[in-house]
Amino acid sequence: MNTHQISDNIHYIGVNDRTTDRFEALWPLPNGVSYNSYLVTGSEKAAIIDGVEVSHALQQIDAITDILGDRKPDYLVINHMEPDHSGAIRILRQAFPDLTIVGNAQTIAMVNGFYGVTDNTLIIKDGDTLPLGDDSSLRFILTPMVHWPETMVTYFDKEKTLFSGDAFGCFGALNGAVVDTDMATDVYFPEMIRYYSNIVGKYGQFVQRALKKLEGVDITTVCSTHGPVWRTDLPKVIDLYDRLSRYEPLDNGVTIIYGSMYGNTERMAETAAEALAEAGIKNIVVRNAAKTDLSYILADLFTHAGVVIAAPTYSDGLFPPVEAVMTAMSVRGIKNRHIALIGSHTWAPQSIKKMNAHLEACGLTPIAEPVSAKQAPSADIISKCRGLALSLAEALK
Ligand SMILES: Cc1cc2nc3c(=O)[nH]c(=O)nc-3n(C[C@H](O)[C@H](O)[C@H](O)COP(=O)(O)O)c2cc1C
Ligand SMILES: [Fe+2]
Ligand SMILES: [Fe+2]
Repeated sequence: MNTHQISDNIHYIGVNDRTTDRFEALWPLPNGVSYNSYLVTGSEKAAIIDGVEVSHALQQIDAITDILGDRKPDYLVINHMEPDHSGAIRILRQAFPDLTIVGNAQTIAMVNGFYGVTDNTLIIKDGDTLPLGDDSSLRFILTPMVHWPETMVTYFDKEKTLFSGDAFGCFGALNGAVVDTDMATDVYFPEMIRYYSNIVGKYGQFVQRALKKLEGVDITTVCSTHGPVWRTDLPKVIDLYDRLSRYEPLDNGVTIIYGSMYGNTERMAETAAEALAEAGIKNIVVRNAAKTDLSYILADLFTHAGVVIAAPTYSDGLFPPVEAVMTAMSVRGIKNRHIALIGSHTWAPQSIKKMNAHLEACGLTPIAEPVSAKQAPSADIISKCRGLALSLAEALK
């Protein structure tokens, strides 16, 4: 079977983007990204589910025409309105003027707001079905805030397939194959953690709500809007999204995030790393916040149970790259972590105070009294950093 034919009634009509440097102008795409779109054909009607980013519109239209020939698609079902999936709406409408746009009330309002399209739309409600012919229909399940308020998922009963929108998605373009069964999927799992922590991470409670809502639905295939179609690895993917959205660490390792201009704070961070390793912690990742992109640091934070944050005082505040990391942590409401703080200053200690304020916003408290150095860390301060790291290792056991 053609790798783009997912099943008897479903074709992949999505595209790969290996050109864009940063998703949402923020998150690095070293392996590219796919904007997945699908064509479901029933005996009477054909529905496009999810769209592509605007610059790839013609590629999607060609794919649709190749599959349908003289037949035209009847519906465009929009699970999510972020422009990476909705950008091509106007061009699709020009190619297929009779295409009915299907979405919930919030979706259809956004179709007007973004693209000025008001005609030939169909508003559906939670649980509604749309028949595609004799033996098949689409069912809509509203899953708000995974990742925008209008987000929903669509279930194709005949082939027990869920079109899940951004849920269960990941970074990484597709390399020929589309369905996980036909490829080595290892590379996509780190990209799933990064995608979740960067894009969906703030909405854990809503992902949990959506997972509960889908519990009774018989699903054998998940077609998300980014990355492979999940069939063989589906249990692993659902488990990963479940754990991430409960803020459950994936291992007992430690993320050490530090900032340092002249090496004093860095010495304390290195001391903590060595002490953790001596205490038997194997997964330790040390990140210079001024160098490693926030995207990867967020993925580390969602992975490991332990965190050390070490930062100098800078202009009476927190060293800016570390401030950015901690703001991103509090935006995502990160929970269930053991955290140790290390600071430094020369005349007025502020960094620890600012770090504590960020932790409070997440409802977290440090595992022990933070350690802070005035100017270069003394032998006593270095030994306190060791002690703090050993307490963290103890807490992680
Ligand atoms: C641009 C700049 C601004 C700073 N602002 C403050 C400050 O407001 N208060 C303070 O006590 N120390 C301040 N410091 C001093 C540093 O916090 C201190 O030297 C610390 O040891 C630097 O750690 P590092 O060697 O890891 O970069 C500042 C240093 C620099 C270079
Ligand atoms: Fe999105
Ligand atoms: Fe998306």
